[in-house]
Amino acid sequence: MKGIVLAGGLATRLRPLTAVTNKHLLPVYDKPMVYYPIQALVNAGISDIMVVTGGNSAGDFLKLLRDGRVFGLKRLNYTYQEGEGGIAAALDLCEDFAEGGPVCVVLGDNIIERNICRAVKAYRHQGGGAKILLKKVHDPQRFGVPELDGRRVVRIEEKPKEPKSDYAVIGIYMYDAEVFKITKTLKPSGRGELEITDVNNAYIDRGEMTWDELEGWWTDAGTFESLLRASNLVAETGANKLDEESASAGGAAAAGGGEAK
Ligand code: G1P
Repeated sequence: MKGIVLAGGLATRLRPLTAVTNKHLLPVYDKPMVYYPIQALVNAGISDIMVVTGGNSAGDFLKLLRDGRVFGLKRLNYTYQEGEGGIAAALDLCEDFAEGGPVCVVLGDNIIERNICRAVKAYRHQGGGAKILLKKVHDPQRFGVPELDGRRVVRIEEKPKEPKSDYAVIGIYMYDAEVFKITKTLKPSGRGELEITDVNNAYIDRGEMTWDELEGWWTDAGTFESLLRASNLVAETGANKLDEESASAGGAAAAGGGEAK
């Protein structure tokens, strides 16, 4: 399984912080934001990673991350997203990189306290389709929100005025290679972007979507409030924690850096 970190976009909600630099290079406590999603993938045993950047300061990602050695990687892959096409458009750029295999996609501003080892392991056993991760939040209107019927996800609504649950669909998604057929069928939403929620709904329509609830805290960092919250959470408890049990469920640390297939 390969990993994809989406770190493009113009991040207008964070201006003027993002007037000259890319959101994902901003500090979250003691590290640049993009470190956290990369570490989350590495901790889950995923070592072949593509960083999709774009917008301001795209070249600075190369200066900062270089060959990925700081994460124990042999190399990192980079590509560039022109304009503001949306999350699903950025994902579509990774079709050749995926080489027909499954991918774990992480939004570059999503930060987790613990790890996704168990979910990645479960997805590998699922043998295709898609998996999303959910987390209970107090402000679901800001996110993609699932309507649930027991273990079944019925539909996801993007930023609904009247949310059908108090869960957010967090920005960590697992897909098989069918995702690149789906991205090519999408039409731009009201905000002019190809939405990841439309990709997820396509898998739901096919009956191929599963979900797990994430353990530990989760936050995005795309607004002033959530950026501050992210720094405070990392300062208070740390992020990307690997315990022994989850590491042995597929994590790089316990497997000695081996790549999850
Ligand atoms: C995006 C997705 C949304 C998801 C969120 C998680 O929202 O569209 O479904 O819940 O990321 O961070 P955005 O940050 O682009 O508003």
